[in-house]
Amino acid sequence: MQTIQSVNEMQSHAIGLRSSGHLIGLVPTMGSLHEGHLSLIDIAKERADKVIVSIFVNPTQFGPSEDYEKYPRVLEEDLEKCRERGVDIVFNPSVSEMYPKGYSTYVNEEHISAGLCGISRPHHFRGVTTVCLKLFNIARPDIAIFGQKDAQQCAVIKKMVTDLNLPTEVLVGPTVREPDGLALSSRNAYLTDVQRNEALSISKALHIAKGMVDQGTRSVDRIVAEITHHLSLHRRVRVIYVQVVEKDTMEPATEILPGKQLVTLAAWVDQTRLIDNIEL
Ligand code: PAJ
Repeated sequence: MQTIQSVNEMQSHAIGLRSSGHLIGLVPTMGSLHEGHLSLIDIAKERADKVIVSIFVNPTQFGPSEDYEKYPRVLEEDLEKCRERGVDIVFNPSVSEMYPKGYSTYVNEEHISAGLCGISRPHHFRGVTTVCLKLFNIARPDIAIFGQKDAQQCAVIKKMVTDLNLPTEVLVGPTVREPDGLALSSRNAYLTDVQRNEALSISKALHIAKGMVDQGTRSVDRIVAEITHHLSLHRRVRVIYVQVVEKDTMEPATEILPGKQLVTLAAWVDQTRLIDNIEL
């Protein structure tokens, strides 16, 4: 496995791979890799013959009071996991390599990014689209794989790819969960045992909502109210939003149509911000 830190080196290497007929799969990450990330690598390996994983804690997607500084950074462990999983190249540039002094260009998806996490994290998706477009230009992927756990991010990236006519196919891998249902997240590392236990209420509430829809509930209000009620029983959990949305556009749903929508939520568990969603 090769590791590359230089943008120019990564870009010329990718261009070379493409011109010799290789199909490149890119898995963008911020590191601290867990089975969720590794499942995306597995998808990339099935679909492409050269797999590039980027590991870059992207400062432009964090707000000023967010966890950029304390975000877990465990490069050696990440490299070992990538090696074991058969990754070809890890691209792990420095911040100054990606955003040299005087950097001033950003790309903004203006519609799907506006709601949900875009309300409480106003510049977050601008940072995500900017870094992903840069990574696509640097690593030249035929396919790029993202996780359903960040459903709004998937919708925003797909829209950017369509709107900007990018030659990359976006694939979405399912959310990987702990056996008890907790969605894997690098931010779970912040949780104490007590907080982790409270965080479990998030996936449990989503599961209850899914059960209600399976039993015939079609009222969006009933679903949102049930989830909010369930979470309110957990004193460390503070709901940021709970919403039923259309899968592709993230537009609020007015009536449940099974198969086309998600219920998505964000909540604080004490100081840790977690998100999760389930298909209805
Ligand atoms: P990060 O949080 O490291 O996640 C990298 C990829 O892993 C994302 O596509 C995310 O949706 C996926 N992922 C995270 N948890 C998952 C889980 N439990 N199951 C399946 N996939 C999961 O998302 C980012 O980084 C950044 O915003 C990035 C796209 C890299 C841009 O900086």
